[in-house]
Amino acid sequence: MKKWTVATVRAAKGVEKLGCCTAYDAAFARLADEAGVPIILVGDSMGMNTLGYGTTLPVNMSDTLAATAAVARAAKNAMVVGDMPFGSYQCGDDEAVRNAVAIIKAGADAVKLEGGASVCGLIKRLTTAGIPVLAHVGMMPQSVNAYGGFKKQGKTREAAEQVIADAKAVEEAGAFAVTLECIPAELAAEITAALKIVTVGIGAGPVCDAQWLVMHDMLGLNEKVPSFVKKYADLATIVRGAFASYVNEVKNGKFPQ
Ligand code: KIV
Repeated sequence: MKKWTVATVRAAKGVEKLGCCTAYDAAFARLADEAGVPIILVGDSMGMNTLGYGTTLPVNMSDTLAATAAVARAAKNAMVVGDMPFGSYQCGDDEAVRNAVAIIKAGADAVKLEGGASVCGLIKRLTTAGIPVLAHVGMMPQSVNAYGGFKKQGKTREAAEQVIADAKAVEEAGAFAVTLECIPAELAAEITAALKIVTVGIGAGPVCDAQWLVMHDMLGLNEKVPSFVKKYADLATIVRGAFASYVNEVKNGKFPQ
């Protein structure tokens, strides 16, 4: 298997659709990598999936650096993208560049950050510094308080025009790919056709160049999942069953022998 790079991801547009996912630790990153997942995102969704928070907002740089380093140690061929947590790039571009550098030093091949036109100056600085950027427009979970909940975006024509403008702006600023989260499928298709860079959809229909799924959703570790998710396994049942068998066998003297 080949190592996925910015160049090979760019070259996949229109040639090969990419099924990408999150991972937050070495054990699952190794399995995703061995299965051929091209891009592993160390998403700030670790807030909900491994840290027990209700949103991504409490995730900080130490959480991100520890998880990124673990995933990067395990992923041999996948591109590892480190998500910049809320607060790590909102307080000035100098601090943002320092934080992005730290994520790269932890082992990521690229960083992801949320925002359109408002983060284009930062995207230019990062790409100039040699840090590949995967952008993120549409529904941006770090803006959950501004939206008043995790709500689909781009539903009116005016709102759709804004998402299109943001996607074009991040491409122009130098992002090599852009996440389109929770927008209508027709809008995602329009953006995918308009951009030269790879679109990675999540809850954005089938036409995007690539897809994200959150690992805990697709593996059935989360029993409640968004409606667009397909569960490829039911690990919650398997894992709960294994723990219960172990507890029973110890109680009944069947283990250890
Ligand atoms: O943190 C995350 O998992 C993400 C995906 C939803 C793209 O940003």
